[in-house]
Amino acid sequence: MKVGVVGLGAMGSGIAQLCVEAGLETVGREVTDELGEKARDRIGHFLTRKVEKGQIESFDLGLLSLTTDLADLAGCDVVVEAIVEELEPKQELFAELDRVCRPDAVLATNTSALSVTEIASATSSPERVVGMHFFNPAPLMPLVEIVRAELSSDTAFEQAYALGETLGKHPIRCHDTPGFVVNRVLIPLLNDCVRVLDEARVSVDDLDAGMKHGTGWPMGPCELLDLVGIDVHVHASEALYDKLREPRMAPPPRLVAMANARLLGRKSGRGFYTY
Ligand SMILES: NC(=O)c1ccc[n+]([C@@H]2O[C@H](COP(=O)([O-])OP(=O)(O)OC[C@H]3O[C@@H](n4cnc5c(N)ncnc54)[C@H](O)[C@@H]3O)[C@@H](O)[C@H]2O)c1
Repeated sequence: MKVGVVGLGAMGSGIAQLCVEAGLETVGREVTDELGEKARDRIGHFLTRKVEKGQIESFDLGLLSLTTDLADLAGCDVVVEAIVEELEPKQELFAELDRVCRPDAVLATNTSALSVTEIASATSSPERVVGMHFFNPAPLMPLVEIVRAELSSDTAFEQAYALGETLGKHPIRCHDTPGFVVNRVLIPLLNDCVRVLDEARVSVDDLDAGMKHGTGWPMGPCELLDLVGIDVHVHASEALYDKLREPRMAPPPRLVAMANARLLGRKSGRGFYTY
């Protein structure tokens, strides 16, 4: 099987790493050679560390070829898209992929918050478009949501599911609804946690301890928000609110203020905690 990955940023490079690890011929497409090479270096680095730790025996980075030309994806069986989270660029890309890829190739998007059906509508063959929603960091998080859009065919859907398994993930099947499964549950839940900080006048440490020791969460909600990135959460939360109009989906003002102040969590050195 030959897999194409379009966009080798945080998610795409992780997905390409999984493909190489699974021994699949992989074509990575970035906008510049330099960005592609940076991603390949990162992938090589992570896979070398896995060998050093004894987690894998060896890997063949030669399975990954890089390109800036979409036409080089023509021979792929599945293409996974992981570019910016905006509808227009994704639609343009899928229209182009639809033209260059084999008619039986599956086209998958890793979008978190956009409608897979709307992305598929830019193609002349929406039946081959599905969602493959990996979690960050893709090489470590076991879940992938396989998302059936309105017009996805059974064949495309099951091929994406099978690829998820080949990549060593735990795939789950769902339909194309806002937030799919995990974010639909997790985003309002984390928003509730932040609202409770003010309502119950509980400290950040105590809220995290409460959820860890009272419910068995592996980390507290504030630790999790700092890890995800406050800006990323606010963006996802606004996207869900736009679609569902349920008050719990809207980001609490405290989180919006934190995002505006660049208190973004681990990546900026300060969020609920200081790093
Ligand atoms: N970061 C997360 O936590 C996360 C989790 C799940 C899903 N996602 C989704 O994955 C997608 C990518 O997110 P990310 O965090 O990896 O973003 P990112 O900004 O790290 O990476 C995007 C990459 O795509 C490249 N790119 C842009 N347009 C391109 C094009 N036309 N062709 C090829 N490459 C192109 C950019 O140069 C960049 O390297 C988004 O849809 C996002 O919603 C992100």
